[in-house]
Amino acid sequence: MVVMTRNLDVSRDLYSTAQQYLAGGVSSDARRTTGVPLYVDRAQGARLWDVDGNAYVDYVLGQGPALLGHCPPEVVEAISDQAARGMVYSAQHAAEVRVAERLCAMVPSAERVRFNTVGSEAVHAALRLARGFTGRSRILKFEGHYHGWLDPVLYSVHPALDLAGPADAPVAVPGTAGQQEGHGEDLIVCPWNDLETLTRLMDRYGAEIAAVIAEPVLCNTGAILPDPGYLEAVRKLCDQHGSLLIFDEIITGFRLAPGGAQEYLGITPDLSVFGKAMAGGMQVSALVGKASVMDHISTGKVAHAGTFNSQPVGIAAAEATLRVLDERRDEVYGTLFARGSALMEGIRAAAEKAGVPLLVDGPGPVFQTYFTDAGAVRDYRDFAATDRAMMARLHAALLDRGVNMVPRGLWFLSTAHTESDIDATVDAFAGALRAL
Ligand SMILES: Cc1ncc(COP(=O)(O)O)c(C=O)c1O
Repeated sequence: MVVMTRNLDVSRDLYSTAQQYLAGGVSSDARRTTGVPLYVDRAQGARLWDVDGNAYVDYVLGQGPALLGHCPPEVVEAISDQAARGMVYSAQHAAEVRVAERLCAMVPSAERVRFNTVGSEAVHAALRLARGFTGRSRILKFEGHYHGWLDPVLYSVHPALDLAGPADAPVAVPGTAGQQEGHGEDLIVCPWNDLETLTRLMDRYGAEIAAVIAEPVLCNTGAILPDPGYLEAVRKLCDQHGSLLIFDEIITGFRLAPGGAQEYLGITPDLSVFGKAMAGGMQVSALVGKASVMDHISTGKVAHAGTFNSQPVGIAAAEATLRVLDERRDEVYGTLFARGSALMEGIRAAAEKAGVPLLVDGPGPVFQTYFTDAGAVRDYRDFAATDRAMMARLHAALLDRGVNMVPRGLWFLSTAHTESDIDATVDAFAGALRAL
């Protein structure tokens, strides 16, 4: 049981009213919590303030989008200018062309672009396009990877181990009641970072597999980089079997490099999806890919639509955000990696001093803390063996000390985090460990 020590009177009252009107008192299952949820009053830079007046250094960043911090001035200005000129056109406009052109220049796999609103939708578009392009129905996904909450892919994200099958032959476990039966039969689930199993599955089912979809750096189950050579081998297997490779860069996109994880790791997929950090906090997602594949959308063979696609306020935010990321890339990525590695080092040192077995791992602009004795976490089964109950307690103890991390132990950095934010966070972390 988590005991909150900061004053949360107003939050507690709001939560009690919310439970009468909002299902479960929240608007997304990802925000369910055992205590009183965070009721944010305002956000600026790397900080959040709740309705009770408590301040937090924020490492959730809206689950990732606020890569430039909350309310970056360039983005706020672009949004308010555009809002005064129209909030929805459902028609073409010049800024969507400019943003598509910039995406094609920044992202290695991008030759054509289609915009959507959120990540789940863009993934849906990518899977449909892969099936339409190849004429095949099966999709291979990796255990522990999350590709949105829609029926065809909400499988085996964090499955109960008694349902998940053997580690080298996982079964597709649905994520929710009410999921349409049958989607699971089209899915082949493979452990991450296990080339032997992937090769066996591709040899057996490759001719039926439309696409292999992956988070190129797994960020929904820890922050797990691919083993050296692994994604190169995945790329090769896809080519051998005529299956498309889809990178789900909803988290990694623009966070690890201006061209996403595909630039950072040097592997070019056939299709990729972006969202979150692309528009500085506004809801814009994109499906991008090779012209030869995207042509199936260009010609109308594969349907793609949406009232709010390329909604002008979101696109104005994307244009301002991408301009900063592209034109100030040295400064942006220098800061993200420097702050990330300073925080990782500081947390490691605090845990060592406290004698707590804590693994701190990830590329830097996003990383994960795990309570474990293990030297490495390479896949979902390793992640499931870490002490997740302890992580939930740490999350609560950090909130009480003014630090907001993603409850499962994930940390997002922004360009707004300062060296003194990092120092304060390390102190809070040391205090939280002592309290545990
Ligand atoms: C890797 C990945 N793909 C897809 C999604 C779905 O995006 P959205 O929540 O915008 O629908 C998420 C959301 O967290 C994600 O992390």
